Amino acid sequence: MAVIALQGFRGGTGTTSVTAALAWGLAQLNEKVLVIDFSPENLLRLHFGMPFTQTRGWCSAVNAGEPWQKSAMRYHAHLDFLPYGFVGTESAGSPEFDWPKAITQLKNSGVYDWILIDSPAADPLPAQAIADSTVVLLHTDTQSHIRLHQRALPANGRYLVNQFVPSSQLQQDILLLWQETLPTMVPVILHRDEAMAESLAAKQPVGEWKSNSKISREINTLANWFLLNLRGAR
Ligand SMILES: Nc1ncnc2c1ncn2[C@@H]1O[C@H](COP(=O)(O)OP(=O)(O)OP(=O)(O)O)[C@@H](O)[C@H]1O
Ligand SMILES: [Mg+2]
Repeated sequence: MAVIALQGFRGGTGTTSVTAALAWGLAQLNEKVLVIDFSPENLLRLHFGMPFTQTRGWCSAVNAGEPWQKSAMRYHAHLDFLPYGFVGTESAGSPEFDWPKAITQLKNSGVYDWILIDSPAADPLPAQAIADSTVVLLHTDTQSHIRLHQRALPANGRYLVNQFVPSSQLQQDILLLWQETLPTMVPVILHRDEAMAESLAAKQPVGEWKSNSKISREINTLANWFLLNLRGAR
């Protein structure tokens, strides 16, 4: 089993959408996937059709002293997800929770091939510490380029470009520069595609919503890249 944390280089890079889409892509390759939401925003679940008013999730279970495992939900024969849960503003902080122990339990259960963690950009939880690899999502813009020089990539980390707009000369130039100078880039580039934005409105992973869209085909390529390159972490 491989544990992969996906994390935004900053907010709004598309981490939650890509995590949900990738989970679907891996499930289509017959891999068994569990996706865990580490973000108090609790939005990942909406990509899997969960009613907005349902409050269950691992954090609310832990706060209530209940077993976190019971908050997992099945979306597809090969795809389960664990929502963060709704926690009121007074207990918005993440509880002290022994994730390394929980991950060891999941590994020992032998149920899953992959655990994908939707980790918020601010990372209040130690996703990087429990993951075998971290994939950091970023946009090809000047601010990200500057920040690349200010922040270290986590150990076993890789960068993944999302929302690339090829009609932008600046984005093209930044991408070329990164491709030539950043050895830690995932070679699959995810383009900005309306189908991805629509998929959240449809409450589905994009591969289910529009399987033939450009972004869905790119996500399928990414899922295959994961199989070839990150499966060794199992
Ligand atoms: N490749 C894409 N093409 C078009 N729109 C995208 C793409 N990826 C993400 N989006 C859109 O960008 C917005 C932010 O996406 P998302 O919520 O997945 O980002 P995030 O990094 O998880 O944000 P946050 O930091 O708030 O957790 C959403 O409206 C989503 O539909
Ligand atoms: Mg998010």
